[in-house]
Amino acid sequence: MRKKIVAGNWKMNLTLEAGRILTSEIVNMVADEVKSDVEVIINPPFPHLHPTASLLEGSKVKLGAQNCSEHESGAYTGEVSVAMLQSFGSDYVIIGHSERREYFSEDNAQLAKKVDGALKAGLTPIFCCGETLETRESGAHFEFVCNQLTESLFHLSEADFKKIVVAYEPIWAIGTGVTASTEQAQEMHEKIRTHLKSKYGSAADSCSLLYGGSCKPTNAKELFACADVDGGLIGGASLKSRDFVDIVKSF
Ligand code: 13P
Repeated sequence: MRKKIVAGNWKMNLTLEAGRILTSEIVNMVADEVKSDVEVIINPPFPHLHPTASLLEGSKVKLGAQNCSEHESGAYTGEVSVAMLQSFGSDYVIIGHSERREYFSEDNAQLAKKVDGALKAGLTPIFCCGETLETRESGAHFEFVCNQLTESLFHLSEADFKKIVVAYEPIWAIGTGVTASTEQAQEMHEKIRTHLKSKYGSAADSCSLLYGGSCKPTNAKELFACADVDGGLIGGASLKSRDFVDIVKSF
């Protein structure tokens, strides 16, 4: 049985106070309304992590970060290490989001180091992959996504691979209101799982594959019903407690 996961990626939004309010609303709604065993994660900006961890105490909502440094410690001004994230109470860390790849030039080799660091610190990486519209239209999308996985994950031992969560986020669907169809999502998720199986065999059957990109309460149910979609990585809709928790309840 694969873990079902819904993770909110707040990106660079919300002041500390607004974040506290959102977190408290999510904690209360999840306690009152969510009876399933879905893992709920919120990934606020770095400065929110420590105060958010306190608000999550005693709740089943888990904490994640949106990025981490590939370096352990030292003279890397502005960076945040995995040991810090762990000490703030984070359980998860998003690695390789397309916005990090595009705006901060993160490449597959650098992301492989981040994955290693996160695992070493006991954090669960939520490793993101996904293609641009151009790549999809050229017909190279499967190859492109599989290559992202090969170059950043395939050095892992089977034991470490088993700790990874993968999120497929087609760039053309992020923040655009255009969601991948259930056929497109399932087709890519199946390809991803087959590719992971080619390296890790049956361990890939236990790997949770999340879909991200304009996921909303109105489309989450059909996406989560796809055989190889095990949950979602949610951007915009994770900033509204009602929408986020309705997505959590879409399994
Ligand atoms: P949206 O849900 O806003 O499209 O963002 C998806 C995303 O990038 C989550 O990481």
